Amino acid sequence: MRDATLTLSRSALLHNMARVRACAPQSRVLAMVKADAYGHGASLVASWLSPHVDALGVAFMEEALALRDAGIKTPIALMEGVFNAYELATARALDMYLVVHQSQQLDLLEKHPSGPPLTVWLKVDSGMHRLGFSPSEAVLAYQRLEALPSVVRIVLCSHFAAADVTTSLQTEHQTTVMNALAARLPAMPRSLANSAAILGRPEVHHQWVRPGIMLYGSSPFADRTAADLDLEPVMTLHSRVIAVRDISAGEAVGYGATWTSRQPTRLAVVAIGYGDGYPRHAPSGTPVLINGRRYPLVGRVSMDMITVDVSDEPVQPGDHAVLWGEGLPADEVAAHAGTISYELFCRITGRVERIWR
Ligand SMILES: Cc1ncc(COP(=O)(O)O)c(C=O)c1O
Repeated sequence: MRDATLTLSRSALLHNMARVRACAPQSRVLAMVKADAYGHGASLVASWLSPHVDALGVAFMEEALALRDAGIKTPIALMEGVFNAYELATARALDMYLVVHQSQQLDLLEKHPSGPPLTVWLKVDSGMHRLGFSPSEAVLAYQRLEALPSVVRIVLCSHFAAADVTTSLQTEHQTTVMNALAARLPAMPRSLANSAAILGRPEVHHQWVRPGIMLYGSSPFADRTAADLDLEPVMTLHSRVIAVRDISAGEAVGYGATWTSRQPTRLAVVAIGYGDGYPRHAPSGTPVLINGRRYPLVGRVSMDMITVDVSDEPVQPGDHAVLWGEGLPADEVAAHAGTISYELFCRITGRVERIWR
């Protein structure tokens, strides 16, 4: 039996969704389920969230089609929009919202003006400089959309670059840019807020919020834990101890011999590695839970195994290990590995068995 398993908690997902509603009670919710729902499994996440959200967000058409194939009926927003006539026709036929962020997408809509009614999210680059029309281009883009009879709803949207950094002035700057633009356009719904802004900036909730990471139970902030924010981990990565060894002082452990014991040490070998999506760059000292107690990882992460210093504790082969999730926040492991929980979640590989509870 494979030891590495991922348990996924429906009740935690729904609890976190309720937190979104409590934080932004006046806003509609577009739940981000792109990248396989941040690695959690998009079809199931979407089916459980659908009764509680107003729309779902994916990056591109294939992700949206997978949800429609799974029977999801909720409107789906294509955050990168469509890139050809086929995708446009498919989006129209399958009730997808289109993000329009560049003039080629306006050209495409003008070339194919008729069809079922479309909701368009007009994306403005308010300062992140990734996707979107500049504020000055956005007025013309709006007018071009307005002139299209099949475009029945326009939502003005933008994305914050640094809402997670509470000391950054970038979010104020982007908000000012969007307020100035909105003042030049007819009244219409707006959407700016990601998880960090949902949790920290009620003034930018507007008509639509777009939660991602908070739904999955992680904190978007480096200085506030998920528990501080009353978020529950949806994903827990489990495995087992497959061997226990006692080594003498002065023995090097693992590839590259990067860690050496200072004293006689008991090592537990846990069946998880970068082949499962555990980050190879997690350094010695990264916490691992074995039988509910924290111990430090020591030595390099291998493809299928890690080594953990369990001091002289009576850890046995077969004992239960948690790599992150319940009892050990993914944010903490991510910080040790120099990454973010988003990446840990997205990198779990296909050989890890998934169990929804
Ligand atoms: C356009 C857009 N909106 C919202 C989100 C959700 O962000 P978060 O997961 O930080 O809540 C993302 C995620 O990358 C995004 O790209």
